[in-house]
Amino acid sequence: MSLTHFRIADSSSAPHRAATRVTIQSLQDKKTHGTPIVALTAYDYATARLVDEAGVDFILVGDSLAMVVMGYENTLPVTMEEMLLHTRAVRRAVKQAMVVADMPFGSYQVSTAEGIANATRFMKESGAQAVKLEGGASRLELVKRLTDAEIPVMAHLGLTPQSVHRMSGYRVQGKTVAAIHHLIKDALAMEAAGAFAVVLEGIPAEVAQRITAALHIPTIGIGAGVHCDGQILVLHDLINLSFSPAAKFVRRYGDASALITDAVHRYRQDVETRAFPGDAESYHLNKDAMSALQQEESVARRKA
Ligand code: KIV
Repeated sequence: MSLTHFRIADSSSAPHRAATRVTIQSLQDKKTHGTPIVALTAYDYATARLVDEAGVDFILVGDSLAMVVMGYENTLPVTMEEMLLHTRAVRRAVKQAMVVADMPFGSYQVSTAEGIANATRFMKESGAQAVKLEGGASRLELVKRLTDAEIPVMAHLGLTPQSVHRMSGYRVQGKTVAAIHHLIKDALAMEAAGAFAVVLEGIPAEVAQRITAALHIPTIGIGAGVHCDGQILVLHDLINLSFSPAAKFVRRYGDASALITDAVHRYRQDVETRAFPGDAESYHLNKDAMSALQQEESVARRKA
């Protein structure tokens, strides 16, 4: 931000931002009315603000930030402190969407008590309205306890990136009848334990359709076909800023890489040719200060 251009507290460039916050009930209403839920990830103030102002229902501060923001190979290394930092930045930007914080690997796998403590930190220290965690039956006790502790939980089933090593890579899940039954059972168990929504990642559309029909709570798909109650994508995939070949389920709606590369090249060229900064981009002394300075310089020259 420019040194002389301070943001005034509470000012907004968006003229008529509705103050209504998206809630669990409003997501549920969307499922009831068959209105698709729109979700995206965001990890910082600037992008979260744009995503919120574009009217998405919820923003996930995904642990995918480990890959798309921090450059790690998978999502495993990102820490609680890093997730909290990014969730706080997003929360400061968002006025309308629900903010969901992704619980990072290691923050809930060790024990239920640790999971509750870490989820509580998200609610208390970052202002998130819900947490998301990966896994089915093994997370039942945790989901129940979090729900009892007034912490809304979004479950995440199917291709769960934190299980990358157990799954031997990022593979589409739920491809056999046994695996499909397992997924449906997990989804129903998550609902019964109190989850308010379920992310379904990397599963056949036919399976997601059946899970969506079986559940009362909304399903949010990513690589799970069109029959889910809503869709989520990683923002950096949507705008070509993830430096990796797009997965089959990604649709690119913009090219931020091209935009940034072009802007930086032109800036560099302008600096190197002294075309930047121009006169209008420079500060100047007023007449009195200029003549006082010149007078002092000429006295100094005569003395030298
Ligand atoms: O971390 C993430 O971005 C996710 C997806 C569901 C988008 O978990």
